[in-house]
Amino acid sequence: MAVFEPVLMRNVGVENSTDISVYKSRGGYEAAEKALKMAPDDVIEEVKSANLRGRGGAGFPAGVKWGFLPKDRKVTYLCVNADESEPPTFNNRILIEEDPHQLLEGILIAGYATRTTVAYIYMRGEFMEQFHVLQKALDQAYAAGLFGKKILGGDFSMECYIHRGAGAYICGEETGLIESLEGKRGWPRIKPPFPAIEGLFGKPTVVNNIETLACLPHIIKRGASWFTAIGPEGSFGPKLFCVSGPVKRPGCYEHSMDLTVRELIDGQDFGQGMRDGRKIKGVFPGGLSMGVLTADELDMKLDFDDPRKHGLLGLGTAAAVVFDEDTDVRDVLVNVARFYALESCGQCTQCREGTSWMYKIAARIALGAGRLEDLDIILETTKNMGMMPGLSICGLPDGAAFPIRTLVEKFRPEFEERIRSQEAGKADYVLSVLN
Ligand SMILES: Cc1cc2nc3c(=O)[nH]c(=O)nc-3n(C[C@H](O)[C@H](O)[C@H](O)COP(=O)(O)O)c2cc1C
Ligand code: SF4
Repeated sequence: MAVFEPVLMRNVGVENSTDISVYKSRGGYEAAEKALKMAPDDVIEEVKSANLRGRGGAGFPAGVKWGFLPKDRKVTYLCVNADESEPPTFNNRILIEEDPHQLLEGILIAGYATRTTVAYIYMRGEFMEQFHVLQKALDQAYAAGLFGKKILGGDFSMECYIHRGAGAYICGEETGLIESLEGKRGWPRIKPPFPAIEGLFGKPTVVNNIETLACLPHIIKRGASWFTAIGPEGSFGPKLFCVSGPVKRPGCYEHSMDLTVRELIDGQDFGQGMRDGRKIKGVFPGGLSMGVLTADELDMKLDFDDPRKHGLLGLGTAAAVVFDEDTDVRDVLVNVARFYALESCGQCTQCREGTSWMYKIAARIALGAGRLEDLDIILETTKNMGMMPGLSICGLPDGAAFPIRTLVEKFRPEFEERIRSQEAGKADYVLSVLN
């Protein structure tokens, strides 16, 4: 495997990496200075040429998204999505706590390119320590004239605030985030209008993920062609990958997107294989919402295209969680189903009811009271929910359907065997308690 030079994580492990003087001593904020001397539209063109695809899950090209902003706008908001609630994802957290100035430099470049008036960093409520790290870095950046009025003595002005959420998965969805930022319940909005036209406080708004923004200083400094030379066609640039579960070295690692799931789990520079000689039963390679792979599918590439060939929703957050041969798939199913049932905001009937039905059925199966027909009912339910069939306001139910459907489809023989070998009489008892 080719040696990869870390870009996004190059300051991780450097002493006092969160301090502005250390960041600057390693070339920090040079890209922002360069960008601020360019015309804003030229910065957008450079990001378009790099084909920087959003790292928040959907993979939408950042430069194209910025290009949707109306030309005659007076006010623009930038919402920085630091909600990171997807299980088992922690790549944004690493970027915030280890190198906050890289993120702030990315915000400054994106803000300048889009003529942003105010940038709001929406941070998940559980990120207490990370909030303090980032606030301190932001204070340093303000003191250095990198935010506020007439940045670096030029004509561009932009304020930046950190807003702490209360810890809801749905506030990571961009319009749920916007509603929450406006002080309302985090209920996603019907689109169109898209945020670029009518977003925060009814004004043109860009929403970008932390890792997307962290790529910007490097694109501006080294150029779009440097970025497109990294990784496979259509999946350019450095990328962070998480791996967790019973592996020897769980953590967050950086590589190009030609990395396979097997390399992420077994590679010496990554997870270093399974602990105590355990065997892999399955992997959720892109956060839970993208779906599951069996142990026979580990050669899947962690890029924007390959996951679909394996029946998954997409690359997602590129955070893999592994489960081993001793794990009962009924427990996996009930855990996954519970998460989405709890996190559905409840506006759309098929999402609210569908996620809770699936959770109830999964709980019944896990408690030893499953029926073979329950598996078909679950599969049928997953096909009748979500944005993809045009039934919901946001993508949460698609993210619920994919892991549940792929789990039942790919591990069906084990589910059937577990149901067939349930303790006689227990099913009647459990059903009588549940009903
Ligand atoms: C239920 C749900 C939760 C989401 N949570 C996050 C999140 O925690 N962080 C994030 O960046 N994007 C999240 N997204 C995606 C955002 O809606 C949006 O696409 C993203 O922030 C755009 O940034 P990007 O283009 O830079 O990737 C979520 C989407 C859905 C449907
Ligand atoms: S799809 Fe689900 S989470 Fe999204 S808005 Fe509708 S009810 Fe809420």
